[in-house]
Amino acid sequence: MSVKIEDMQSIHKKKIVLGVTGGIAAYKSAELLRLLTKAGAEVRVVMTPAAREFIQPLTFQALSGHRVYTDIFDAEAESAMDHIELARWADLMLVAPASADFIAKFNHGYADNILLTLCLASAGPIAIAPAMNQQMYASSSTENNLITLSSRGTLIWGPASGEQACGDIGPGRMLEAEELVQLVSLHFQPGKLDGRHLLMTAGPTREAIDPVRYISNRSSGKMGYALAKAAADQGAKVTLISGPVSMQPPPGVDRIMVESAHDMFETVMQRVDKSEIFIACAAVADYRISQQSQQKIKKSSQVMQLSLTRNPDIVASVGALDSPPFTLGFAAETENIEQYAAEKRRRKNLDLIAANQVGGGKTGFENETNEIFVLGENYRQRLPLASKTQIARQLIDILAERFLAQQ
Ligand code: C5P
Repeated sequence: MSVKIEDMQSIHKKKIVLGVTGGIAAYKSAELLRLLTKAGAEVRVVMTPAAREFIQPLTFQALSGHRVYTDIFDAEAESAMDHIELARWADLMLVAPASADFIAKFNHGYADNILLTLCLASAGPIAIAPAMNQQMYASSSTENNLITLSSRGTLIWGPASGEQACGDIGPGRMLEAEELVQLVSLHFQPGKLDGRHLLMTAGPTREAIDPVRYISNRSSGKMGYALAKAAADQGAKVTLISGPVSMQPPPGVDRIMVESAHDMFETVMQRVDKSEIFIACAAVADYRISQQSQQKIKKSSQVMQLSLTRNPDIVASVGALDSPPFTLGFAAETENIEQYAAEKRRRKNLDLIAANQVGGGKTGFENETNEIFVLGENYRQRLPLASKTQIARQLIDILAERFLAQQ
């Protein structure tokens, strides 16, 4: 391993609850505890009844220098710190090994042992290191449990692939103690946008014609949601104002759903003064129906005319504020991308604009991939074709660098 345990400054003085469940990998948890303690963490160990079949609490007690929590009804342990207090105390709960049984119960909110109770009572970050037979790991039940836990913000560390205690070969091995300590260290490293308030828009808008019909566009919201996740991963406090999309918000992101451009405009304007950064990623409808019908419009004449009124330009309104936040906008163009984008950036008073080509090919709306030019004052950077997740990470890196340089 490249980084020395002693150098893992970010772990120093961090309060960690180490949860141990029943699995052969439980022996590795003793080494994990030793390394975390060596890196300066304060660790309390919580074991499930099944874990005690594999390793004695005394081992953990000796290594941590503290009582090990094994029983919900253990009055002596509870008098040291009850399980609710312990959940609040922890900067991180790390369950290693996390058995298939624990993962299933945790996902479904069970609280029939002390570790599950603690996980349910915790509002802080929880990381789990799955460890099980490769077939159990491959089962759709485990897969679904892990997907749901991850979508709720649980950090899933591993598993590794290789030879298993039962003789099988495949994914399901718990990560080595050193790898887990490194992940803990990374987890505690401050992000580039730590604590910064970031407001953003994403997805399409819907402009109602009557109670059942609307005008909209093909925006999937994927780029915006990937940006929200990338910003949250860098520690930003993200408020995502989203038009109608079918995706779940990324963990830790505060999402407000809106329908029309006008709702999006109002919601942004109410919150923008508390924001240091604004990203306009929504495909906002340029026009709305001048007069929405209160009743469903009946078909009658052969030709029907709809009168449209211009919508407010959200990002331009943000750019026109007395002290606007650091602002990133987007430009989807079919030709002369750079020239049009540069003009748009100046006209809307944006710090950065990300321009991409739309209309066929592998970029833009509904696609999984994107290729982007980022333009700023005396700044030009091309981000070659990559997944929207990768593009989002690179864009947030550029944004953070330019934003911090301005502070
Ligand atoms: O002018 P155009 O629609 O091409 O500009 C695109 C950029 O402006 C995007 O960042 C988009 O989110 C933003 N925009 C906006 N409000 C509008 C129209 C566009 O915020 N009404």
